[in-house]
Amino acid sequence: MNASRSLILAIESSCDETAAAVVADGCRTLSNVVATQHELHREYRGVVPEIASRAHLERILPVVRRALAEAEVGVDQLDAVTAGTRPGLIGALLVGVSLAKAVAWSLSKPFLGVDHVESHLLAGLLDAGAVTWPAVGLVVSGGHTSLYSMQGPLELERLGSTIDDAAGEAFDKAATMLGLPYPGGPHLDELAEQHVGTPGVSLPISLMKKASLDFSFSGVKTAMLYSIRGTPRRVDGKTVFDRSESDLDETARTDLAASFRAAVVSALTRKTRAAIERTGAGTLLAGGGVVANRLLRRELEALAGELGLKLHLPRTDLCVDNAAMLAVAAHHRLLRGDRDPLSVTARPTSRGRR
Ligand code: KG4
Ligand code: ZN
Repeated sequence: MNASRSLILAIESSCDETAAAVVADGCRTLSNVVATQHELHREYRGVVPEIASRAHLERILPVVRRALAEAEVGVDQLDAVTAGTRPGLIGALLVGVSLAKAVAWSLSKPFLGVDHVESHLLAGLLDAGAVTWPAVGLVVSGGHTSLYSMQGPLELERLGSTIDDAAGEAFDKAATMLGLPYPGGPHLDELAEQHVGTPGVSLPISLMKKASLDFSFSGVKTAMLYSIRGTPRRVDGKTVFDRSESDLDETARTDLAASFRAAVVSALTRKTRAAIERTGAGTLLAGGGVVANRLLRRELEALAGELGLKLHLPRTDLCVDNAAMLAVAAHHRLLRGDRDPLSVTARPTSRGRR
C-alpha cells in the first residue's frame, strides 16, 4: 500500500440497511450496494430489532459479494476491512462486525471498527474535492441530530445534540400523523414540495436557550398532532381527538407538511449558523438521512453562499445509511497507523458522548 492509497471493503448493518462498499483512497466509491429492509418493518411502523438481525444474516453475504464484483476487486487486493461497530441495534451490528472481522482475519488484513454517526459526516468527502479544515459537522438522521466542531476527519468535538427526538424520527412521526407510508421522511418532503407559497400553519421552532447548540423536536411534533387532530379532550379517563387525518383536504395536507418541514429545517439551519459563528470554521459538512431533504439542502446551500463557506453535501444516496461512508473514516484511521484487535466488538452507543 502506497502512503496515501488504500482499497477498503466496508460493511454496514447497524439498523435496517444491509450494505457493503469498496472505496479507494478514502474518496473514490468503486461500489456501494444497499439492501434496504423497509418492507419488513413497514407494518410495525418502526424497526423491529430481531427482524433486522435475521434479515442482515440472510442478506449480508450476497451484498458483500456484489460490492466486490461491481468494484471488480478481488479480496486479495484489499488493504483493510471495516465495519460500523457503534452505535446501533446490537444484534444487527454484530452481523456486520462479525463478518468484517472474519474476512479480515481470513485474509490476514487489518480490521478497523468505525463510528456510524461520525462516518455520516464524512460521506461528503466521497467523490468530491479535498476538505479544508476546521469544519462544522451537522449529522441529521433517524437516530441522531448533532453538531460537531471538526479539526480533521477524525477529530470531532460535539457542540450540541437533540435532547429528545432526532429530526428524522420527528419527520417519520409527523408523516405517520399525515397517513403517509413508513419511513415517512421522504414522503413528507415530497408532499411539502407540492405546497405553493409560504407555509401557512404556525408551528413552534424550538431554539432552546440562545447560547445552546442543542435541538428539541418534541414540541413541534405535538403541535403538528394538535394541528391535524385538534386539541385533545379527556373523556372517561381517555384522550379523545375531535378530528382525524382523513378530515384534511389535499391543500391542508400539503400546507401542514410544508409547515412542519420548514419548522424543523429552520431549527437545524439556525443552530448550524450559530455553530459556524462560534467556531469560525470555513467549511460545513453535513450527513445523515435527513440531509436528503430538499429544503434542508437548499437552506444549507444558501447559508454557505451567504457566509462564504465551503459546503460538502453528500449525494442523496450517500446521505442515507450506506457502507461507503464507513470506508472514509477507516481510510483515515489506516493512514495514521491504527489497527483494531479482533476483540473489538459492537456497541449500542457511541463512545460516551450521546
Ligand atoms: O441516516 P439514516 O439512513 O439512518 C439512521 O442512521 O438513522 O436516516 C434515516 C432517516 C429516516 O428518519 C428518514 O425518514 C429520514 O432519514 N429521511 C428524510 C428524507 N430522506 C430520509 N427525512 C426528511 N426528508 C427526506 N428527504
Ligand atoms: Zn445512519
